[in-house]
Amino acid sequence: MFAAHRPSGRPLAILSALAEEQDGLVEQLQDGQRVRHAGREFWQGRLGGLHVVLALSRIGKVAAATTSVALIERFDAGAIVFTGVAGGVGSNVQVGDVVVGSAYVQHDMDASPLFPRYQIPLTGQTAFAADAALERALLAACAVGLQGLQHAGRTPQIHQGLIASGDRFVNGLDETRGIVEALQSHGHQPLAVEMEGAAVAQVCHDYGLAFAAVRSISDRADAAAHVDFPLFVRDVASVYARRIITELVRALALND
Ligand code: ADE
Repeated sequence: MFAAHRPSGRPLAILSALAEEQDGLVEQLQDGQRVRHAGREFWQGRLGGLHVVLALSRIGKVAAATTSVALIERFDAGAIVFTGVAGGVGSNVQVGDVVVGSAYVQHDMDASPLFPRYQIPLTGQTAFAADAALERALLAACAVGLQGLQHAGRTPQIHQGLIASGDRFVNGLDETRGIVEALQSHGHQPLAVEMEGAAVAQVCHDYGLAFAAVRSISDRADAAAHVDFPLFVRDVASVYARRIITELVRALALND
């Protein structure tokens, strides 16, 4: 299933912004090798039988784009999966849920009136779609990987839809409303906000590589977001990432 979307022999890149978002994966690497490049650490090895490269981008769209290019140019990544956290902005997207992105838009891209709002200038592109096979694989990995898990007494719900990225930690209901209503007035219905995904999607689009992302919801992008976010990142994010990615690589290795 997946192999058709990833040139054979090339590793799957697993990218996160923060170490806590992929804690435990490095420890599971077989034949793990650490390489320093572009001011970052990359880990090459095998995970669940699949050839992978793990990387941390740090926060923001430029950091994510730099790391994505390094993954492709230096580490020969054949596809990129992002795993991390996001603020839930869809009405039923709660802390502890996950969102698998089906498309990615930059909510702070605005070169209007030269170009339509949200459009990446000179490309004609606004939202970048996830690779359909990788998105399906992530959804399946969430369903299996999160089985039996509870967060704050709730079973995590798995959502699928638009993720909006921007160089802003969204930390207030007025700010959230502004971002969501502006996107909606241009026909976009975001479920979550974060700070990297659409940049990685754009790089992968430019290179013709498959991309998909899963975000666990750490906060509601409201006035408590700066309190909820670090607690979730510290205590929960790596549990979700480990369960989902372990399941993803197991399923992809079977199809390799
Ligand atoms: N990542 C997690 N929560 C976020 C928020 N509220 N805004 C931007 N990125 C986030």
